Amino acid sequence: MSYKANFRIWRGDDEGGELADFVVEVNEGEVVLDIIHRLQATQAPDLAVRWNCKAGKCGSCSAEINGRPRLLCMTRMSTFAEDETITVTPLRTFPVIRDLVTDVSYNYVKAREVPSFKPPEGLKPGEYRMQQVDVERSQEFRKCIECFLCQNTCHVIRDHEENKQAFSGPRFLMRISELEMHPLDTEDRVETAQADHGLGFCNITKCCTDVCPEHIQITDNALIPLKERVADRRYDPLQRLFRR
Ligand code: SF4
Ligand code: F3S
Ligand code: FES
Repeated sequence: MSYKANFRIWRGDDEGGELADFVVEVNEGEVVLDIIHRLQATQAPDLAVRWNCKAGKCGSCSAEINGRPRLLCMTRMSTFAEDETITVTPLRTFPVIRDLVTDVSYNYVKAREVPSFKPPEGLKPGEYRMQQVDVERSQEFRKCIECFLCQNTCHVIRDHEENKQAFSGPRFLMRISELEMHPLDTEDRVETAQADHGLGFCNITKCCTDVCPEHIQITDNALIPLKERVADRRYDPLQRLFRR
């Protein structure tokens, strides 16, 4: 069964733009990315969109649909009423390059600022031994497809451009937490999480977790445990005594 849907798509570049209206055919089983591709093929050949896998695994097609951060390729048209106008806009937290494509290089800068895994000296790959529970903890975080929807959603930078310098965002605080809880990582990441990556800005609103397409429990399983380690380090009288 086909029907015609009303779409409003943001067209423009870093100097400005506006929402453009389209009426476009929708077929059974399609996702929003199919509709964007049909628009490129029929009405707007220069419409810019970033995508790659169309399977929810490359993290390229992030955008906002009716104001909600989502993957274009994983949002089924059947989730909308046929007479609903569907508005597609680029990620709001990052600068627009053109139409639905944003410049997400902020995230790569933040990724490079996290020191890599540092195993004990003399321990070679293949000699790592750790408990299954520790393996599973890392595996949850490793499901991340780097779509940056969590980064786009966190109000600390979504509404405050000035915080970008000091705040690494949930995706990279999760990476720091993963390494901090890794039994074989020898780097001390607690102080630097707070001082250099802005963990203190996070007030646990959990909006990052709500939009994660991999359903990673970013807040409960990564950010809160990291905050607890900071609090233990700073306020536990025994630890303070021990440190002295
Ligand atoms: Fe995307 Fe989830 Fe990874 Fe954030 S943690 S970048 S929302 S997959
Ligand atoms: Fe932001 Fe997630 Fe914390 S949305 S405030 S990083 S819980
Ligand atoms: Fe790869 Fe959507 S195109 S996640």
